[in-house]
Amino acid sequence: MSDWFKEWFASKEYLDVYSHRDEYDASKIVDLILKKTMVNHDALILDAACGSGRHTLLLTEKGFNVTSFDLSRQLLGIAKKEFSDGGLEHKLILADLRNIFFKVQFDIILNLFTSFGYFNEDTENFIFFDNSRSFLKKDGLIIFDYFNSYFIKENFEPVSEKSINGKKIIERRFIEGDTIIKLVDIITNKTTKNFTERVKLYSDKYLLEKFSALGFETKYMFGDYSGNSFNAAQSKRLILFLRLK
Ligand SMILES: C[S@@+](CC[C@H](N)C(=O)[O-])C[C@H]1O[C@@H](n2cnc3c(N)ncnc32)[C@H](O)[C@@H]1O
Repeated sequence: MSDWFKEWFASKEYLDVYSHRDEYDASKIVDLILKKTMVNHDALILDAACGSGRHTLLLTEKGFNVTSFDLSRQLLGIAKKEFSDGGLEHKLILADLRNIFFKVQFDIILNLFTSFGYFNEDTENFIFFDNSRSFLKKDGLIIFDYFNSYFIKENFEPVSEKSINGKKIIERRFIEGDTIIKLVDIITNKTTKNFTERVKLYSDKYLLEKFSALGFETKYMFGDYSGNSFNAAQSKRLILFLRLK
């Protein structure tokens, strides 16, 4: 697997393609997290692979102490602008999930909206969670928000098209082994740009086993941002609230 994620998340087009993943979308899982954890305002929160910072921003506006990091300088730049426009302090760090450590320990670590499964090897995909045991408080929680790979396979949509900001976006999907590959064409009057996404299709069972082997147990398992229980046939998301065993 190439480092497709460096190119795709550095592009201006990523936020067009995922324009529905906006502040409103972010507010739904933020509300679920706050409702289920009842976390205090003095809690330390880490937003791992924060992207343009939509969850970080909402939590900061609510008065929480959030540290965030991402590998995309471009998305962090957008996040920084949002913070300075709102007159808010930020702790946004340029870093790689695979080799980041903290001296402090967090009450909550977020890994939201499929910021997982981008690497070929399990070791690389899970290393952040393995390492996170050293910077998660004993009674802390990891909130892991990934897709339901069973639903994706059963409701497979090979091609879809949409128009956003005057751009035609064609998304072609196929499954190769245990990876879903999406080829994204972004077409304007003048140019066509192509990007690739490659994400591992881990099953819920496999993930629960892996997290258990890493020393985590599942406190809650939801299938959507409204907090409905996970149902393999119907849920679009797999949202795990993990705590240390
Ligand atoms: C699907 S986006 C989600 C971003 C954000 N959590 C959200 O919900 O808007 C995935 C994010 O993972 C980041 N990412 C990809 N590989 C990474 C890595 N190795 N280390 C840190 N961040 C990474 C990307 O730059 C991108 O911002």
